[in-house]
Amino acid sequence: MKVVKTIEEMRRLRQQTRGTVGFVPTMGYLHEGHLSLVRRAKENDTVVVSIYVNPTQFGPKEDFKSYPRDIPRDLAMLESLTDIVFMPEDAEMYPAGYDTWVEVKGITEGLEGATRPGHFRGVATVVTKLLNIVGPTRAYFGQKDAQQVAVIKKMAVELDMDLELIACPTVREPDGLAMSSRNVYLDPEERRGAAVLFKALTLAQELWKNGEKDADTVLHRMMALIKQEPLANIVYISIADGKTLKDVEEIKPPALVSLAVRFGKTRLIDNVVIG
Ligand code: PAJ
Repeated sequence: MKVVKTIEEMRRLRQQTRGTVGFVPTMGYLHEGHLSLVRRAKENDTVVVSIYVNPTQFGPKEDFKSYPRDIPRDLAMLESLTDIVFMPEDAEMYPAGYDTWVEVKGITEGLEGATRPGHFRGVATVVTKLLNIVGPTRAYFGQKDAQQVAVIKKMAVELDMDLELIACPTVREPDGLAMSSRNVYLDPEERRGAAVLFKALTLAQELWKNGEKDADTVLHRMMALIKQEPLANIVYISIADGKTLKDVEEIKPPALVSLAVRFGKTRLIDNVVIG
């Protein structure tokens, strides 16, 4: 496994590779969710993983400074799975005077985009830069961040990017909590309570299977369940069209049921797709 810190070195290695390249962009502090993408990427001749906590996708009041980091642990986890780890520095990704941004309109307006202004501009910009540097045949993203997948897919099509994007299923803890680097912020009581997110999403799926098509009815049942958990503060719960990500009144598959809930200072997101 080669660890590469400069864009020049990454490009040089890329030029030496033959066959297909699979790429998994991450912000590090890796867990089984990330590793599931890396394992899937092994369907390529060469696997590249990036570790870069991208400052431009965090709002001024968000957790950029405190975002968990543990590079030695990350590298040990990747050692047997990855050929190249790309870890660029801020000064090279965003040098002084940096002024170019990738903005996807429409599908970024709701959900995470509505509550984290500027977030997807940062994500779309850094993913474009990383894809330009690494030049993968295929890139892998987790369905855990459903809106991120939708934004990147739309961006890749509309900017004529020549690669295949692959969305991989959400990896969960035994109690259903979606794995996330931010789960380490939770104290034991919050961690226990956080299982309510997946319970609420599962409830939505069950209600729909039993014939309930009215989004408001399902949302109210989900809210009532989450409110039984005293530590949970709902940021949003949404049932949206799976393509446009706009809220719907009547549930028609594919529909994206998604939520953001705070436990203390920790903001968690999760989703399921109906149909
Ligand atoms: P990060 O949160 O580190 O996630 C990296 C990738 O792992 C994303 O595609 C994310 O959806 C996926 N992932 C995270 N938790 C997962 C889980 N429980 N199951 C399956 N996949 C999971 O997402 C980002 O970083 C950044 O926005 C990035 C795309 C790297 C741009 O900075």
